[in-house]
Amino acid sequence: ASSAAPPAPQTLDDLAQAVATCRRCPIGANGTRAVMGEGPADAALMIVGEQPGDHEERAGRPFVGPAGAVLNAALAQAGIDRAAARITNAVRHFKHTPSPKGRLHQTPSPAEIDHCRWWLEAERAMVRPRHILALGASAARAILGRTPNIMAERGQPIPLPDGATLWITAHPAHLLRLEGAARAAEQQRFADDLARVARGLG
Ligand code: URA
Repeated sequence: ASSAAPPAPQTLDDLAQAVATCRRCPIGANGTRAVMGEGPADAALMIVGEQPGDHEERAGRPFVGPAGAVLNAALAQAGIDRAAARITNAVRHFKHTPSPKGRLHQTPSPAEIDHCRWWLEAERAMVRPRHILALGASAARAILGRTPNIMAERGQPIPLPDGATLWITAHPAHLLRLEGAARAAEQQRFADDLARVARGLG
């Protein structure tokens, strides 16, 4: 028997199969279903979230729960076609803790994001999007390799070494945690950020 490492995934289907069995970090070892990106293999825009949530883990698809509804509405308002974008996550498994109310989301650590980055980079190398929209700090860290300053860096084009343009904005789940005037203000900033991405896409 050969002890050689298995060949690196060459296609998005291979990648999805490989990620499904990934146990390289404690989140992967927690026994939940891995959620792979979805959308065209040649999408001009890649949208990166943090990690699948409870709904996504059950459905096996990214952004199908409450945060996905916020994202869908904002994309539609900005004139960005979700179906034409590649939607994916910085971390592929759902980090959570059990509670009487259900599985509670836990933020992945920088080390876990950095570990899981390998999958995102492989997906990026295959899709080669011209624009990347990072939703929140975990997504931006996964692209930049450092913790971003969301307020200072959001809404402006950031050139990446491979020629793509990164856009950073808040995570839609952040909007859901706000109320009243604070939510309205953040919703407007989110809409403004997405409008800039839409203009960048041309
Ligand atoms: N939040 C994320 O960051 N990603 C998802 O896929 C769903 C919710």
